[in-house]
Amino acid sequence: MGARALSSRFDQPIAREGSGALKYDGRQQTFGTTEVMPMWVADMDFAVPAAVTEALQARIAHPVFGYSLAPDSLYQALIDWLQIKHGWPVQREWIVLTPGVVPSLNLVVAALTAPDEGVIVQPPVYFPFFSAVTGQQRHLLENPLSLTTDHANQSQYQMDMDHLTACAQQGRMLLLCSPHNPVGRVWQTAEMEAILSIANQHDLVVLSDEIHADLVYAEAQHQPLSRLAMQAETAEQTALSHRVITAVSPSKTFNIPGLGLSALIVPNTAHRQAIQRQLNTLGLSVTNPLNMAAFEAAYRGGGNWLNELMPYLQATRDAAVAYIQAELPSIKVIAPQATYLLWLDCRALNLHDAALKRFFIEEAQLGLSPGAMFGHGGEGFMRMNIGTPQANVLAALARLKAACSRHGLST
Ligand SMILES: Cc1ncc(COP(=O)(O)O)c(C=O)c1O
Repeated sequence: MGARALSSRFDQPIAREGSGALKYDGRQQTFGTTEVMPMWVADMDFAVPAAVTEALQARIAHPVFGYSLAPDSLYQALIDWLQIKHGWPVQREWIVLTPGVVPSLNLVVAALTAPDEGVIVQPPVYFPFFSAVTGQQRHLLENPLSLTTDHANQSQYQMDMDHLTACAQQGRMLLLCSPHNPVGRVWQTAEMEAILSIANQHDLVVLSDEIHADLVYAEAQHQPLSRLAMQAETAEQTALSHRVITAVSPSKTFNIPGLGLSALIVPNTAHRQAIQRQLNTLGLSVTNPLNMAAFEAAYRGGGNWLNELMPYLQATRDAAVAYIQAELPSIKVIAPQATYLLWLDCRALNLHDAALKRFFIEEAQLGLSPGAMFGHGGEGFMRMNIGTPQANVLAALARLKAACSRHGLST
C-alpha cells in the first residue's frame, strides 16, 4: 500500500548512527535500547539541499573561523524568502538573529514579561513552551485545544476562543504555535483574526512560533500572523502588528536544526530593544561562520529542494494515514495539515501513559514521542516523525500492527 511508482532522492537511506545524531545516538539514553526505529525528535533523515552543502564546503575551505558578523546578504535572503513564500514584507531592522527558536521563546518571555505575570499556552503543545513560562517563574495559563470530530468522522483540533478570552484577562502574553506542533493544524484567517482581536482588547503580546510555516501540505495555506496584523491595522485597530513577534527559522524547513541560527521578527522597537538587551546580558555569540553560511544558502538556494520535499512528505503522510485506517483500527490518526509529525490517538488501546510508552518501545520497537510530554490533552497519544524514507514509515507501521495483533489490541 502507498508505494510510489518513481523513486525519489528522499528514498535514499542515509546511515546516521555514529554521526552524533541525537535521534539515533540518543536512543539508549532516551528509550533504554538502541533497537527502536527512531521516529521522535523533529529532524529528518534526508540530505540537505546541495546549496547548503556547497556553501558550507566553501566556507570550510577558508582556514580561519573567527568571530562573525552577519552580512547584509543574509538578512536579505530571509527578507526575500518571507516576501516570496509568504507575501510578508519584513523590514531589515525588525530582524533579531537568535541561536534557535527555543532560545527565542525563552528570550521573549524573559524580556517582555515580569515574574508571576501570566503567559498563555495551548496544550497539547511543543513542550518547551511550558518551560519557557514555568522555568522563568511566570504564571502558566492554559487554554487547551479541543478535538472535534465532524460528520465525516474527521478529527480536528480547534482553539477555544471563549476560554482564551478568559485567560487573556489575566495574561500578558500568548505563545502561539503556528502551524501547531504536535497536532499539525494550520490556523485559518478567522481563527487568527480572533486571536488578534483578543490580544488587542486585553493588551497581550503574541509570540507566534512559525518554525513549521514552510512545511505545509497542498490543501492548506499558512498565513503569518504578523502579516494579517499588518493588513488589519489599516482599519480600526491601530498598531496591531506591534503586538506580534514571530519566530522563524530555516532549521525545520531545510533540515539544518543542528546548526542553530534562527530569527525573531519584531516590528515594535521597544520590544526589540528589550530582547536585544536580554541577548546581550547572556553574552551569546549567535552567529558563527558555519550557521551563517547554511542559513543564507538555504533561504537563497533551497526552494527547489523544498518543492520536491513537500510532495514526498505528502505521499508519505497519505500512505501512513491510509495504512493506519485500514490496518490499525485501534489507532486513530489526526492527519496533519503541516509538519512531518503524525499525531496518533491511541486511547482505544486502553493503556495508561507509562504502559503505552513501554508498548511502543518494547513490543513495537518504535521510538516515538509520548503525547503526555505535550501537556494536557496529550495523554493516550503518541507523536510519530515521518521525515524519513517512506519505506521506513511503512516498516514502522507494520511493526506496530504486528505488536497490536500479538497483544490482541487490533480490534
Ligand atoms: C514548534 C517548535 N518550535 C521550536 C522548535 C525547535 O527550535 P530550535 O531547534 O530552533 O530551538 C521545534 C522543534 O521541534 C518546534 O516544533
